[in-house]
Amino acid sequence: MAHYRRVGDVPRKRHTLHRNDGAVVFEELMGTDGFSGASSLLYHRRSPSALVRIEERSSRPVCWNQNQPLRPHHLRTSELASDEDGRDPVAGRRPLLANDDVEISWVTADASSPLYRDATGDQLVYVQSGDAVLESVFGRLDVTAGDYLVIPRSTTHRWSITAPVEMYVVSARGHVSIPARYLNAQGQLVEGAPFSERDQRAPAPEPLLVDGEDVPVLVRTRNGLSTHVHASHPFDVIGWDGYLYPWAMSIHDFEPIVGRIHQPPPVHQTFTGPGFVVCSFVPRLFDFDPDAVKVPYHHSNVDCDEVLMYSAGNFMSREGSGIGAGSISLHPPGFVHGPQPGSRERSVVATRTEEVAVMVDAFAPLALSADALEVSDPSYPFSWSR
Ligand SMILES: [Fe+2]
Repeated sequence: MAHYRRVGDVPRKRHTLHRNDGAVVFEELMGTDGFSGASSLLYHRRSPSALVRIEERSSRPVCWNQNQPLRPHHLRTSELASDEDGRDPVAGRRPLLANDDVEISWVTADASSPLYRDATGDQLVYVQSGDAVLESVFGRLDVTAGDYLVIPRSTTHRWSITAPVEMYVVSARGHVSIPARYLNAQGQLVEGAPFSERDQRAPAPEPLLVDGEDVPVLVRTRNGLSTHVHASHPFDVIGWDGYLYPWAMSIHDFEPIVGRIHQPPPVHQTFTGPGFVVCSFVPRLFDFDPDAVKVPYHHSNVDCDEVLMYSAGNFMSREGSGIGAGSISLHPPGFVHGPQPGSRERSVVATRTEEVAVMVDAFAPLALSADALEVSDPSYPFSWSR
């Protein structure tokens, strides 16, 4: 989020001796792209490097399967068996689809998470239902159903659950950002972009200031999980400033762009990441030409595995396929997909849609986990033949 933000007690000049309650504080630069990208400076009461123990953490192995023989999938997330390992937004994640660039998970959680730091890349979390608070070294950020939340790589955070949540988690192997065409040379969102700075929410301006000793933090890298036990609580930040911090935006603040005839998915783009893009489909007026076909034409997106998570509303193009809220479809290259039978005709008289959906287009083939195959509807590939 390319806006300068300053919170709490920050020295007038960076990299200078600074005291808080008489004690010298510890400055931490959290930066991207070496020392060239977005960064923030955080001021800790204790050293953020002081570890007292490092422990190996086992994680549940995920068995990945290539999409072979090639088929489209409808993943019924409501049928995922409950996970005995965890009911929190971190341990309870069920990876469903992945390639070298991105991993897509579903999680149902009613318990708060431990402290967590994902060093593999940024996390983009879409809250499908419920209410939660993301507490991090940057402070408190409240989220609710319909919110996107971008958590920068290696942000130490934890989830506090206010009401049981379902979350759709896109874990990148790099940084999730706003499409460059939405930004001017100064980094401001341009007129005509489908959202503006007023739609973006940053952490609350009060530092959390949590005390503690021997505090475990779960750390994720490409090699697996570790536990770093910190001598003091990482949420001892008295102030910070910079351009790098978690931020949220409601999908309901995404302003749809409509046309006389059908607009292609890039008008719905919301985020970009290495090897993927994310688009938001929100309630909108349909195309207004009297002869407009308002459901998407058959298409073969030859360079992308297209993943659609159906969040809410009616999904006219998928009527008759069994798809409903919480469903995830995967339409791979090599398969031409389009509206389900009858939906094109029904669309002619429709004037608006109430659909809410999140699309991830991945540019490399996605593998499916055993969990994903377990909840894949075997009849879906043939639902266009009915
Ligand atoms: Fe599509």
